[in-house]
Amino acid sequence: MNFHVLTLFPQMIEQTVNTSITGRAVKNEKISLQTVNIRDFADNKHMRVDDYPYGGGAGMVMQPEPVYRAYESVKSHSLAAAQGKRPRCIYLTPQGKVFNQTMAEEFALEEELIFLCGHYEGIDERVLEEIVTDYVSIGDYVLTGGELAACVMIDAISRFVPGVLNNEESSQFESMQDNLLEYPHYTRPEIWHEKQVPQVLLKGDHDKIQSWRLEQSMKRTRERRPDLLAQNRPVTVAYFSPTEGTRKAAELLAMGLTQNPRYLDLTRRKFRKQIRRFQEQELLVAAAPVYGGQLPRLEEGLFTNLRGNHTPCVLMAAYGNRHYDDTLAQMKEILTSRGFVCIGAIAPIIPHIYSEKLGAGRPNEQDREVFRRFSVLIKRRIQDAEDKGFVEVSVPGNPKPEPKAMKPVEKHFIRESCTNCQACVQKCPVNAISRETLEISPEKCMSCMRCVKVCKANAREFDASQVRQYLESNYSVPREIEYF
Ligand SMILES: Cc1cc2nc3c(=O)[nH]c(=O)nc-3n(C[C@H](O)[C@H](O)[C@H](O)COP(=O)(O)O)c2cc1C
Ligand code: SF4
Ligand code: SF4
Repeated sequence: MNFHVLTLFPQMIEQTVNTSITGRAVKNEKISLQTVNIRDFADNKHMRVDDYPYGGGAGMVMQPEPVYRAYESVKSHSLAAAQGKRPRCIYLTPQGKVFNQTMAEEFALEEELIFLCGHYEGIDERVLEEIVTDYVSIGDYVLTGGELAACVMIDAISRFVPGVLNNEESSQFESMQDNLLEYPHYTRPEIWHEKQVPQVLLKGDHDKIQSWRLEQSMKRTRERRPDLLAQNRPVTVAYFSPTEGTRKAAELLAMGLTQNPRYLDLTRRKFRKQIRRFQEQELLVAAAPVYGGQLPRLEEGLFTNLRGNHTPCVLMAAYGNRHYDDTLAQMKEILTSRGFVCIGAIAPIIPHIYSEKLGAGRPNEQDREVFRRFSVLIKRRIQDAEDKGFVEVSVPGNPKPEPKAMKPVEKHFIRESCTNCQACVQKCPVNAISRETLEISPEKCMSCMRCVKVCKANAREFDASQVRQYLESNYSVPREIEYF
């Protein structure tokens, strides 16, 4: 990320940004800072850049030409200009949109940003109209100039630039992620001024510590910022994933959306049978793998037990690099008719269970970046919905396709190796394996390969060589993630 700051006081910016964590990021070249002194572009020998306001009144106004020239000096060698685009130029003003965490995350997706810091009574309106793309305020108060506000924004944005925070720091600084304030922190000594550190933190039970922290965050937000709590939106990830590829992709997406995801594993038959209700103030992520270009066909259906109440939902159809065809459209149909509003959809590529080549290593680093962009987009859509309501997203495909006949893969059961542990029987998502004989019912089996994966004795093998050959000769070129 390259930050450029147009200012009358470059030192103010440099001293702040080149200190502490942002200073380290500049040294490590994770971010760069260029300050441009607007005074250097004055067109008079006194180096004046301000003048009296037309129409009278108190104070001075910065003239358009020096500001414009300072801007042009950055723009002429900007990455955006090289691509024939206008660089993003932020003018810091109390008249702007109030800066928040989602905006910081959004700005961090840019490769370069120009900040324009005003002084005196402001800047001539005509130059603002020509160069400014974003008017931003850091709060409802007036500063003597835009420099401190620019530093605040640079700090908050830099935190989202990959590599700026180390792992320890990223997990420390997550206040605001879910519109919740951070839980209280404690360090040694265990007793200080007769005050004892909460016992739960001393016992090393990670799950209990997590739920205590969430509870404390909620309590604190309720007490100190009830306005924020009203915007908190619990995220549930409901997924079907026999061999865990979809689950891993869904977890990656959830990480970008919340610190406290809840999971609903619909691979388990009993959870597909329970009706689950969601409120308007929640978010559902529905994730499924693609089977033959469609949703896996299950007797009781998939996602059919979920009930929304105008609840926003994000769809994920994870597939093995062939195509997702009708899957997103089917998911949208099922969830919309059950009270959800589909506000986004994504089709990531995951390893194909029938081929070691297709989807190998996906999601990769590049995919993670796409997930990041997509989760910021979803957060933006959720924030915008506060004024306009949720907007339903369009997805390609046929919402009610005819079931597709898929050639079953050949299955082998090596009875001599079987220890009768029953793991395959219990884990089969469709109850296709007989408890007594351990035989697979061909009518019920959906060839998901879960039983092969869960059998520790290697007593189950599938021969997918025919389908593998076909897939590898036709669909080997890595596809890119699509999102809507
Ligand atoms: C029966 C079956 C059909 C599949 N059909 C497709 C397909 O049409 N397109 C595709 O790209 N991947 C297809 N795949 C691959 C899966 O989408 C995915 O890669 C993985 O096998 C399943 O995800 P999971 O690990 O969450 O169980 C299929 C997999 C199975 C088991
Ligand atoms: S029997 Fe069929 S449906 Fe059941 S786990 Fe094995 S492959 Fe999947
Ligand atoms: S998981 Fe393997 S060992 Fe266990 S019952 Fe099934 S086939 Fe036998």
